[in-house]
Amino acid sequence: MDKSNVVEVQDVTKTYGKKNEKQYQALKGVSFEVESGEFVGIMGASGSGKTTLLNILSTLDQPTSGSVLINGSDVT
Ligand SMILES: Nc1ncnc2c1ncn2[C@@H]1O[C@H](COP(=O)(O)OP(=O)(O)OP(=O)(O)O)[C@@H](O)[C@H]1O
Ligand SMILES: [Mg+2]
Repeated sequence: MDKSNVVEVQDVTKTYGKKNEKQYQALKGVSFEVESGEFVGIMGASGSGKTTLLNILSTLDQPTSGSVLINGSDVT
């Protein structure tokens, strides 16, 4: 990890719905980095996965796959 990256999101996916339930892939291959001092906004249509992504970044929810590093530590 580059030392200046405070947030590193690597190939995150999120599929809602347990086995035998209806599945819905809300996030597919999301990757980005946020450097120290950067101010980032997330834009997208209703249902595009903004809240899903922020729930994963804040550890309220877990990704189906992929990783999230905060200051170099994997929080997933
Ligand atoms: N707990 C859940 N179970 C099943 N599907 C869900 C769940 N939460 C969200 N979804 C679905 O995942 C997709 C992304 O939802 P999300 O709430 O992340 O979008 P959003 O970008 O925050 O939308 P909005 O702008 O309306 O707040 C939507 O299709 C939504 O119906
Ligand atoms: Mg939302």
